[in-house]
Amino acid sequence: MAMIAYKCPHIEVWVVDISEPRIAAWNSPNLPIYEPGLQEIVEQCRGKNLFFSTSVEEKIQECDIIFVSVNTPTKKSGLGSGRAADLKYWELVGRTISKVATSPKIVIEKSTVPVRTAAALDRVLNAQKTTTFVILSNPEFLAEGTAIRDLSSPDRILIGGPQNEEGLDAIAAVFDVYANWVPKEQIITTNLWSSELSKLVANAFLAQRVSSINAISQLCERTGADVSEVSRAIGMDSRIGPKFLQASIGFGGSCFQKDILNLVYLCEQFGLKEVADYWAQVVNMNNHQQEVFTRRMIEAMFNTVSGKKIAVLGFAFKKDTGDVRETPGVKVCELLMEDAAVCSIYDPKVKREDAIWEMEQHGVKCSDKLFQFTESAEEAVKDAHAIVILTEWDVFKTYDYGKFYAMMQKPAFVFDGRNLLDHSALRKVGFEVHAVGKPTIKAAESVNTYVGA
Ligand code: UGA
Repeated sequence: MAMIAYKCPHIEVWVVDISEPRIAAWNSPNLPIYEPGLQEIVEQCRGKNLFFSTSVEEKIQECDIIFVSVNTPTKKSGLGSGRAADLKYWELVGRTISKVATSPKIVIEKSTVPVRTAAALDRVLNAQKTTTFVILSNPEFLAEGTAIRDLSSPDRILIGGPQNEEGLDAIAAVFDVYANWVPKEQIITTNLWSSELSKLVANAFLAQRVSSINAISQLCERTGADVSEVSRAIGMDSRIGPKFLQASIGFGGSCFQKDILNLVYLCEQFGLKEVADYWAQVVNMNNHQQEVFTRRMIEAMFNTVSGKKIAVLGFAFKKDTGDVRETPGVKVCELLMEDAAVCSIYDPKVKREDAIWEMEQHGVKCSDKLFQFTESAEEAVKDAHAIVILTEWDVFKTYDYGKFYAMMQKPAFVFDGRNLLDHSALRKVGFEVHAVGKPTIKAAESVNTYVGA
């Protein structure tokens, strides 16, 4: 919404939420989320044509186009538990709009929703026939950390809607909003279901690439191949392309897992068991990758980490965000703490309370003794047996690892879950380095001796 306000000074944008503290934060100098470049844009537009308010009903009445961006978490109980999206917030918004709207509205699905949500929304909105509602799907494709760049020059904008006169008029109205800055040929219009499904499928394909390269990373570790070299070699095939081939500790984030599970549920509902199993495997592989990585850590450290301090660098699910939803850090820290390790975590943007909240969402209890957050990487590393890199923050590349080595217990280990650091430099310093999809060479051994090969 900030980007629409920024690019379209003639359009008045109101962001409304029932949460007073959240709206207060949006109106303050400290925005409630960290996203590079967002603060500047909000500050330029706020009070001019971008406003934040809790007057939900009043603004529904006044606005012509309503983007619904409430969350759609995975259901925790009841039918479809663990896979289907929970649409209770959606339904609530639908009911509020239908109660208060007195003039025709274009209602846009911006949150990722299961396919055919629009049909359900249509029934909720039009149950009372107070006015005309046209429901469109306009999914968001931005990625966290690069949101501003993705929004100002998107690969495409997708608008789906009913293929009748009212629907096509509504699509044209939303098309015109984006055409203020997006080249027209990059704005695609489709029917509603194609648009809803494309959002899930785009995320499923991206996640599938990560799981595919992660699966290969495990084979690399056994064979002595280097996954970065394999990624480079296959990515230069223009049919494959170089992006999303970075082997890692596994993907996180609020979307990939949720959307795939949603896709799986959808397939099951339509009796497509094999299709459901196929996509479910992308998530299974991701969970497996996190477990394999952590098991490998424990094995390398003489099969026990009990009482050992482990410096965890990064807890966010990717760099340039403070978001910890579904971060692989949860599984890694859970397994380490199960073995009584002390996780000493440093992340430039993650707050301990947010990390604890996410751990609790996964049923993991965090004691003050085993789950600590520090103010600096140095504090986390002091007296630690190992450093584990879980997020690819650029600043982690700039540290003096020679100094860190001197501060640590020996033998000192680095487990690089993001293949971020210069491993040969670390080995020269004396570290035993383990990385994802790379042959492991013990510091003292010759370059030809592979552990596990
Ligand atoms: C993802 C999609 O990329 C967006 O297009 C989509 O709009 C968004 O979900 C959404 O549905 O809201 P996001 O989750 O913010 O965006 O971040 P990504 O850059 O896709 O990264 C997801 C995870 O995959 C991260 O944990 C990242 O570290 C991991 N990843 C990504 C890898 O492990 N390897 C890669 O090569 C790429």
